[in-house]
Amino acid sequence: MENLYQNPKYYEIAFSYRDIQGEVDTFEESIQRFSKIPVTNVLEIGCGNSPHMRELVNRGYRYHGIDLSEAMLDYAREKSKDIKGKVHFTCADMTDFTLPRQVDFVYIPLGSLYAKTNENLNAHFDSISRVLKKGGLYLLDWCVNFEPLGETKDSWEMEEEGILVETEFSISKLNKVTQTYEEGITLQVKDHGKEMSFTQKDLRRAIYPQEFLFLLQGREDFEFIGWWNDWDLNRPIKGTETISRPITIIRKQ
Ligand SMILES: C[S@@+](CC[C@H](N)C(=O)[O-])C[C@H]1O[C@@H](n2cnc3c(N)ncnc32)[C@H](O)[C@@H]1O
Repeated sequence: MENLYQNPKYYEIAFSYRDIQGEVDTFEESIQRFSKIPVTNVLEIGCGNSPHMRELVNRGYRYHGIDLSEAMLDYAREKSKDIKGKVHFTCADMTDFTLPRQVDFVYIPLGSLYAKTNENLNAHFDSISRVLKKGGLYLLDWCVNFEPLGETKDSWEMEEEGILVETEFSISKLNKVTQTYEEGITLQVKDHGKEMSFTQKDLRRAIYPQEFLFLLQGREDFEFIGWWNDWDLNRPIKGTETISRPITIIRKQ
């Protein structure tokens, strides 16, 4: 089976269930409510195929994306041909990177915080701290695990331009001490008579809410603003509700 991130087109179809305009509305509402600085330059961490790029540029922002996969970045660059000059890409590891200039707002979609150890996590926040201006926000989409992780399987189907993509997502082999687990994403693709499979397996580390707060308390460069359910800033998480697609916002001090 081929690696998923070498095949960005199929990845893009698999994860195209999101309401991108609605998510960019939430970025703007967060900025209005909590940012202490005006926002022009926006950075996406683990940008991959850059799903929010065009909507952000259409609304007047400059878009920056960092990712470790050249194949994903090439795909995003290809999509941005007509908006060149307003977008910038950097191939880098999110646990150790810098940028030529600081940005005003940072976000990380789909729980893509790939940090496996406490050192990795701190190094990630050191990197964000370097590239984000004081008063700017960092919005994390589902990087904090509110539900204790267990063996999980989920699947869904998406179809675009006659291409059918069946996605299976799984969590397995949890280590209770290191909080690491294996995340699997497998795509079965039917593309105009051609059948293919792609898979991605990553060793991930869960981050639970109180350890996230504890981590921030140990640093002087970020303050916790809040966490909300389902990308909705009117639904602060209390801890008793069912939680889906939570977002967390912190601010650089
Ligand atoms: C789940 S995809 C998210 C892509 C895109 N942001 C989205 O919203 O659909 C995760 C992305 O993170 C990238 N990635 C994985 N580990 C990384 C790392 N250590 N540093 C930077 N990017 C990484 C992968 O190459 C992939 O493009």
